[in-house]
Amino acid sequence: MLQNDIFLKTAQNKPTDRTPVWLMRQAGRILPEYRKVRESAGDFKTLVTTPELATEVTIQPVDILGVDAAIIFSDILVIPEAMGLTYEMEEKKGPVFPKVIQSAADIHNLRIAQAEDLQYVLDAIKLTKAELNGRVPLIGFAGAPWTIFSYMIEGGGSKTFSKAKKMLYTNPALAHQLLDKITQSTINYLKGQIVAGADLLQIFDSWAGILSPEQYDEFSLRYIRKICEAIDEVPVTVFAKGAFFARETMNLLPCKVVGLDWNMDIQESIKMLPNKVLQGNLDPCALYGTLDDVRRETKRMLDAFGTHPHIANLGHGLYPDTEVDKVKCFIDTVKEYSVTSKLKK
Ligand code: CP3
Repeated sequence: MLQNDIFLKTAQNKPTDRTPVWLMRQAGRILPEYRKVRESAGDFKTLVTTPELATEVTIQPVDILGVDAAIIFSDILVIPEAMGLTYEMEEKKGPVFPKVIQSAADIHNLRIAQAEDLQYVLDAIKLTKAELNGRVPLIGFAGAPWTIFSYMIEGGGSKTFSKAKKMLYTNPALAHQLLDKITQSTINYLKGQIVAGADLLQIFDSWAGILSPEQYDEFSLRYIRKICEAIDEVPVTVFAKGAFFARETMNLLPCKVVGLDWNMDIQESIKMLPNKVLQGNLDPCALYGTLDDVRRETKRMLDAFGTHPHIANLGHGLYPDTEVDKVKCFIDTVKEYSVTSKLKK
C-alpha cells in the first residue's frame, strides 16, 4: 500500500487535495549526496548497473527534496546496449556509441532485447520498491523509439540530427525496420519493469522536436502508440520534447498523461489535450532566479493549469548547476499553493 498516492491518483485522473510534484532528472546531478555516491562508484555505468547504488540515488530526492514520486536511476541508452550497441558515458561530453548503425546488415545483426537482458534495472526496481516501502510510487521509463534510433545512428548527441533524418528520407523502409526492432525491445523491457514493480512508465521522446509533423506521425508517434497499446497494467506518460505540433494527435494516444515543455502554452495545451492529465512545464532556467522569482513563476504555472488534472514538473530535466534551495522552493511552493488554490475552486 502506498502512503502517498497523490501522484498515481492524479495520473489516473482522480481528485487529490493538492497537486503532486516531481522533477525530471531529480535523481542525480544537483545533489552533493549523489555526487558522493557517483564518485565512489567511479563511473556512471557502474552506478547504473549496481542495483544497491542505483537504489540509493533513486531514493535520495525522496528523502532530501520531498518529491511525490521516485524515478528509477538508469538511462534511456540501456536499450541500444541490450540490443548489441554499447554506449560509453564520457565525462562532460555525454553518451557516445563507439559503433553506430549504418547499413541493413547492422540492423539485421541487432538483437531484440528481452527483459532479462536488463536484469540489473529490474533488480534495482525491486530493491527500490522494497526500500521505499510504500512511501511514494516508483516511475519506470524508456526512451521513445525515435529518440533511441537517433542515438544509434548519430552515435551521440547532435545539433541537426542530419544522419538520423537522412535515413528517413533516403531509406524509410530500413528506418522502419530499425524502429520496429527498438519498439519490440522497449515493450519487452517496460513489461519487465512492471513485473519488477514500476507504478507508472514514462516515455521520453527527447528529440521529437526535430521532425516535421508528417514525419513525427510516421516515424515516432506510430511506435509510441504501439508501446502504449501494449501496456495496460499501469498508467503511461508520454513526454515529447518540442512536439508542440503533435498535441492534438497526442490527445488520441492510449496514454493517461502527456508531458509539456515550456514552449507549449498551458491554456492552449489544455484545449488541445482535453482527455489527458498534463505534466510540466516550468522552464528549468526559471530556477536560476531568486527564491521570490521561483515562487512567483511556480504559482503562475499552477494558476494557468487551474482545475485541469496536473502533475507539477519542469518542462525538461533539471540542469546540473541548479541550486538545491531553488529546487526545494519549487517543490514547497507547489505543495503549499496548490492546497489553497484547490480549496478556492
Ligand atoms: O530523471 C532521473 O533523475 C532518472 C535518471 C535518468 C538519467 N537519464 C540519468 C542520467 C533519466 C530519466 C535519463 C533519461 C535520459 N538520458 C534522456 C531523456 C530525458 C532528457 O533529458 O531528454 C536522455 C536524452 C538521456 C541520454 C543522456 N544520458 C545524456 C544526453 C547524458 C549526458 C548529459 C546529461 O544529461 O547529463 C546522460 C547522462 C546521465 N543520465 C546523467 C544522469 C544522472 C549524468 C551522468 C553523470 O552522473 O555523470
